[in-house]
Amino acid sequence: MSHHIQIEGGDGFDVSADEDSLLRGALRAGVGMPYECGVGGCGNCRFDLVSGEMQNLWPEAPGLSERERKRGKRLACQSRPLSDCVIKVRCADEYRPVVPTQRFQALLAQRREIAPGMAELVFKGPESATFRPGQYGVFHPPGVEGPRAYSMSNLPNAEGEWRFVVRRVPGGKGSNAMFDALAPGDTLTLDAPYGAAYLREDNARDVVCVGGGSGVGPVVSVARAALKLGKENRVHLFEGARTQADLCVPALLTPEEIAALNYVPVLSAEPDGSGWGGARGFVHAQVEQSLPLPVEKHEFYFAGPPPMIEAMQDLLVMRWKAPLTQIHFDKFF
Ligand SMILES: Cc1cc2nc3c(=O)[nH]c(=O)nc-3n(C[C@H](O)[C@H](O)[C@H](O)COP(=O)(O)OP(=O)(O)OC[C@H]3O[C@@H](n4cnc5c(N)ncnc54)[C@H](O)[C@@H]3O)c2cc1C
Ligand code: FES
Repeated sequence: MSHHIQIEGGDGFDVSADEDSLLRGALRAGVGMPYECGVGGCGNCRFDLVSGEMQNLWPEAPGLSERERKRGKRLACQSRPLSDCVIKVRCADEYRPVVPTQRFQALLAQRREIAPGMAELVFKGPESATFRPGQYGVFHPPGVEGPRAYSMSNLPNAEGEWRFVVRRVPGGKGSNAMFDALAPGDTLTLDAPYGAAYLREDNARDVVCVGGGSGVGPVVSVARAALKLGKENRVHLFEGARTQADLCVPALLTPEEIAALNYVPVLSAEPDGSGWGGARGFVHAQVEQSLPLPVEKHEFYFAGPPPMIEAMQDLLVMRWKAPLTQIHFDKFF
């Protein structure tokens, strides 16, 4: 059974009754519905319900302000159609999936600790793993309300392997379930790929990847794919971590891959006297200090906690005036 969704003044599409949200149903139908995080945090998927019945999956989702809620705004990633509906939303081609999304049972093959509180999870799917480097997938961690997004840290492959770097967030329900409620051999539904912060292969600009904490996952994927393109362009990879022990890139890339990159680890809380001779401070400040300009010759990819993303946006957009089309990021809400 499915419900027909009509966009006022636009196209219509069908959403299967077992689909978990209007957004994922729209994207699966190839509709360019606006979105970013897919999990209720950013507010980019706002729409108006003109008629029909829609379940609100997370009424307190932070992606909407109290004022917007009062004005009847809804989030497509937190809405589930219960009948045929008419909605008002402005779609755009840039949101159309670049790779068709798939929903399948993924088997947890391995979980390996790569730093304190940080693990690489390796899942096996039934078919080839098709995505663009930098994209993310959506899981429903066992026993937890709502979905959680995790970004692929490997490259697309025919073997159906999907890798993720997951940080155990203190007190966080979903991330802790990914560590404690799931054992190798268990299966979980994975819905992927989503997101627009994927590697643009069609230009010769230098690639700048910046990852903070678990944000290294997607940017390692982008950096590795950029190296594989074998173009003349340089690939810079900045990793922000608290201490040397928290660095993940040495566990995710081979020494040869690291040598082929300009890898810049940046530590914000490394004790004095530890013998660390590398960069200290916040990762965005190191980008500002050491990236060769002009800014136009770079394509930027970054991922991590909201304060790091905001600091990078401030640097690139407000101060360096980088072209917006050359900036791609995921904020880890
Ligand atoms: C695009 C994207 C990519 C990401 N990639 C990674 C990654 O590669 N590695 C990584 O470690 N983290 C990643 N994250 C962050 C990750 O999705 C989780 O937010 C993080 O693991 C903390 O989740 P938690 O459940 O432990 O914390 P919690 O504080 O329990 O929950 C945090 C998030 O869960 C969602 N949520 C909470 N309650 C509900 C509810 N009732 N209904 C629906 N949703 C709810 C919200 O999005 C909230 O921000 C990514 C986030 C985004 C948006
Ligand atoms: S995509 Fe729905 S709130 Fe971010």
